[in-house]
Amino acid sequence: MNNNTFVHKYIKSLIGKDDVTADLTAGNGNDTLFLSQLSKKVYAFDISAEAIASTKEKITGRDNVILVHDSHAQIDQYVKEKLRLAIFNLGYLPHGKEYSVTSGPETLIAVEKSYELLESGGYLIITFYLSHQGGRDEYYLLQDHIQKNRLTILETYSQDKTDSPITYIIRKD
Ligand SMILES: C[S@@+](CC[C@H](N)C(=O)[O-])C[C@H]1O[C@@H](n2cnc3c(N)ncnc32)[C@H](O)[C@@H]1O
Repeated sequence: MNNNTFVHKYIKSLIGKDDVTADLTAGNGNDTLFLSQLSKKVYAFDISAEAIASTKEKITGRDNVILVHDSHAQIDQYVKEKLRLAIFNLGYLPHGKEYSVTSGPETLIAVEKSYELLESGGYLIITFYLSHQGGRDEYYLLQDHIQKNRLTILETYSQDKTDSPITYIIRKD
């Protein structure tokens, strides 16, 4: 099972139709579409115009997605309500013409702000990719943050291969 399949299976048990959620890396819109089918409202962020266009197409006909063409580090400028779940699928836009990739320091700001916006008992899900340039540094930076702040990790998931993506499911206590 790849990480995205694992995450989607897991999310089904975490959220319901009354919940507000956020996809902090919309990309091609797969996670945004999934969250929009399960929750009341989804805020979806991406800095890439190509990603926003791709996500817009994926969610055609759905009226519960707020697309934000801006960095996830600005989440507090757009989200003024509590979130049940926030998801980060880090790395670069798959199949993209433009190379748009997450960066550790900015991801750290976005993770801190998203965690702040979570309701108590809410969830933060982060999938890290190690094999592209900067991916490993981003992982170490965030891992350090998670440990120092003693965030509660419910699950980690990774396929048993070199440099496989790593997913953390975190609960806000
Ligand atoms: C692995 S892709 C996400 C895949 C997506 N969740 C899906 O289901 O198709 C990572 C995305 O993060 C976006 N990204 C990079 N830096 C960002 C930032 N500062 N704020 C928001 N999105 C960013 C990239 O443009 C890219 O589309």
